[in-house]
Amino acid sequence: MSKEGLKRNVGYRAAELVKSGQKLGLGTGSTVYFYLERLGERIRTEKLDVVGVPTSVQTMEQAMGFDIPLATLDEIQEFDLYVDGADEIDGQFRMIKGGGGALLREKIIASCSNQKVIIVDEGKVVSRLGSGFALPVEVVPFGRRVCENRLQKLGCTPLLRTADGSPFVTNNGNHILDCRFEAGIEAPERMEAAINDIPGVVCCGLFIGLADHVLVGKNDGSVEERTRG
Ligand code: A5P
Repeated sequence: MSKEGLKRNVGYRAAELVKSGQKLGLGTGSTVYFYLERLGERIRTEKLDVVGVPTSVQTMEQAMGFDIPLATLDEIQEFDLYVDGADEIDGQFRMIKGGGGALLREKIIASCSNQKVIIVDEGKVVSRLGSGFALPVEVVPFGRRVCENRLQKLGCTPLLRTADGSPFVTNNGNHILDCRFEAGIEAPERMEAAINDIPGVVCCGLFIGLADHVLVGKNDGSVEERTRG
């Protein structure tokens, strides 16, 4: 099955979890796209009464295209359901996020959500975080060099993310350092705390304790549902 097919399967399945009356945190990414597509359909055909707060400009634009009613975080600060993708997830539901650059808003909204559902394809389930994907760290541009030096001391190789030859700029006006750990990240909790301690770091792409349920799209077309024990 194609990658896109896997993403559609989990995105559509997640959209079935939405109930009328809910306040929704809307994640970001190519998997979430399908969730939004199906959610838009359900709103239209079943007259679901929901409102969502997007975690990025990209999601805001996609949601508007699907006629999903939106609000801002100034208007709603508690969500019934949060659905988002991930770049890697391990057996303890610890994740790396931020491949799309929306990690800060994602972390804020996930932390305000009662039920957090993560949608991934099976290629993203790993035994050790960071073994395949570089960890995104959002930093303020002023402190970028200092952050790079300190991150290196934590055992990784940080690389400034670029877009069209210039530094990539997040929706918050910051930069992203993609940190490559040769042997993966041994102790994600400790690493997250150490990275958060660096002045100039705005958000670390390690998401811990921010997933309750995981929907895994399998190559055979099925969707496996896992719940945090
Ligand atoms: C956005 O910044 C990310 O955290 C995404 O949620 C993550 O990169 C997954 O995106 P895809 O569904 O596009 O792989």
